[in-house]
Amino acid sequence: MKSIILLIVLGTSIIVSGQQKSQIYFDVTKPIEERVENALSLMTTEEKVALCHAQSKFSSKGVPRLGIPDVWSSDGSHGVSDEKLWDEWSSAQWTNDSCTAFPALTCLAATFNPEMSLLFGKSIGEEARYREKTILLGPGVNIYRSPLNGRNFEYMGEDPYLASRMVVPYVQGVQSCGVAACVKHFALNNQEISRGEINVSLSDRALHEIYLPAFKAAIQEGKAWSIMGAYNKFRGEHCCQSDLLLNKILKQDWKFDGVVVSDWGGVHNTDEAVNNGLDIEMGTYTNGLTTQGHFPFSSYYLANPFLKGIKEGKYDMAKLDDKARRILRLIFRTTMSANRPFGRFVSPEHSKAARKIAQEGIVLLKNENNLLPIPVGKYKKIAVIGENATRSLVVGGGSTSLKVAYEISPLQGLKDKYGKEHIVYSMGYASGPSLYGREEPSRLNADSLLNAAVEIAKTADVVFFVGGLNKNYFQDCESGDRKSLSLPFGEDKLIESIQKVNKNIVVILTSGNAVSMPWLQKIPSVVQAWYLGSEAGYALADIISGDVNPSGKLPFSIPKKLSDIGAHAFDKLCYPGDSVNVQYKEDILVGYRWLDTKKIEPLFPFGYGLSYTTFAYSKPSVDMSDLKPDGTVKVSFLLTNNGKVDGAETAQLYVSKSKSAVLRAAKELKAFKKVFLKAGECKTQTIELPISSLAFYNERKQVWEVESGSYLLLLGSSSRDIKGKVDVKVLSN
Ligand code: BGC
Repeated sequence: MKSIILLIVLGTSIIVSGQQKSQIYFDVTKPIEERVENALSLMTTEEKVALCHAQSKFSSKGVPRLGIPDVWSSDGSHGVSDEKLWDEWSSAQWTNDSCTAFPALTCLAATFNPEMSLLFGKSIGEEARYREKTILLGPGVNIYRSPLNGRNFEYMGEDPYLASRMVVPYVQGVQSCGVAACVKHFALNNQEISRGEINVSLSDRALHEIYLPAFKAAIQEGKAWSIMGAYNKFRGEHCCQSDLLLNKILKQDWKFDGVVVSDWGGVHNTDEAVNNGLDIEMGTYTNGLTTQGHFPFSSYYLANPFLKGIKEGKYDMAKLDDKARRILRLIFRTTMSANRPFGRFVSPEHSKAARKIAQEGIVLLKNENNLLPIPVGKYKKIAVIGENATRSLVVGGGSTSLKVAYEISPLQGLKDKYGKEHIVYSMGYASGPSLYGREEPSRLNADSLLNAAVEIAKTADVVFFVGGLNKNYFQDCESGDRKSLSLPFGEDKLIESIQKVNKNIVVILTSGNAVSMPWLQKIPSVVQAWYLGSEAGYALADIISGDVNPSGKLPFSIPKKLSDIGAHAFDKLCYPGDSVNVQYKEDILVGYRWLDTKKIEPLFPFGYGLSYTTFAYSKPSVDMSDLKPDGTVKVSFLLTNNGKVDGAETAQLYVSKSKSAVLRAAKELKAFKKVFLKAGECKTQTIELPISSLAFYNERKQVWEVESGSYLLLLGSSSRDIKGKVDVKVLSN
């Protein structure tokens, strides 16, 4: 009898402790690592494997039996995509998923303002949270190597320092909403031609100094919870299954504790996917965005073949546990976090944020005789010409294509600003329809369009030409690169024809890439207006009218011709490669680093952008007290807004080292500060420069190293407009 009672008591206590144990992962007062271990200890091998591969086009499984939710991801960097069908790329046609489109990331980078990045990240994070997403598939920080890359508009420009400073607050903003940012595409996905298989070779210096810093900053400073592998190969291995990139650099050296998600269809075999650091496999058996159809998720490389390998002892259980731990950690950080806010969708605050970021990112490239701004009421008849004045620029482009709640076109924005009775519109040129993976010219007659536009230009007081690229295939669009630097659809001819009949012309370019401007000498005003999202037309009209003073600066150089760019200065192997290999022969000299070192004059330099006011810089002075490799230099100067309107200037600090043991770029951006000053206001500015940021990557020792000796600090308004220089001597340790 006694023994029976004991058994019952024991039995009860086993159940109780079992319940307690199984509930730890729900207990948000417990540290995440404890919850991860607890959940893991309760899972079967099958359940762990199920975490590691897709169950639908945009989701992977949680652990239903334990109440651990699925992982839902969504594109993209500048707006939350509409819901897709379970196993297809097509829209599910819901009616409650039309988002706010924020400006594309080239525009964000052009703000040179980390506060805008934080605002962007928070706003898009809120939208993703409201839509119940676990992971937002962005931001993208692949370096702008060639102006032909069809995806440059999704990224943050050509400079690793700028991209690093801008990506960190974006990631923090998104994740403050309880949604994981997924920084992409890791790494070296710098072209779309042959992106699925091209094997990139480059020096260790170029890798560490140019192509990795923004990812490293996103991981180490931004603490990104996930990262997406790239499609291409690097040193013979696909990036989604690259031992060097994922195991060694990301997880071992950078101590990344989050999840590596594959790009969709970026995984190619089980052995490497298991062993080389991938955690979740997505989109296998699909070909980019083109293939529709149903695939057995159970045959994914990280599904049944992985399970079989584990059971046969081919793969170590520790490998599976590591992946499962990371995925559980991500779920506890997001959907199962007690502090997860609720988010909001298409709120007026998001519209305000989109407009503000767009205003700050627009770059005024040229403004002869102060043609701009054009205040409301100044002109009676304004001709708006160009397809981009009315065409949707949030649709197309590949995976970032958006279904939006609204989009204010440039024409609408200008009509609202100046009064519709003062505006006449003519299309001027026509591109074809937006088709994925295919280019189809417009059926409209180009000559009639041109003639009609010239007719209205003749009698207008001023012409706003709104053109540039669009999101069509072979323009700013995933899966293909542009074919040339020129404007498409006969726009050059159209601009030349308009300026013959009206000299008062403002050329407004919407694009995420540099374009050639053969007509530049004849055109008084040029504006780089990016892809601005839902508030495009309002933001543009704010700048054109002078209600907002432009303050954007170029995040990439605009060359006079393609061959002026490092990636295009060599043979085909350097770009786009021979379809098997591509060699980054320009090495560390990407963007302005190439142009400046080779003394090639750009059309518009990196960091350049005009304002409706002017700024004066005093001579910079330096606090030399702490010039050890672990110290900081403080550069101070007076910045004065000596014009008549309030405005903002981005002061940029470049560094140059003439005597060095290694190749150095003529100058490199190492710090910047965006300053808002009222008309007439003058303020002392201090920019801090950690000496460690002067380091180069020592390939032989595989470490970052600060050379002692002289460095020239160059304070400027752009990479080519240097206002003052100071010499500093860095001491050795
Ligand atoms: C793109 C990714 C995107 C994914 C899902 C891929 O084709 O390269 O950037 O997140 O599709 O749409």
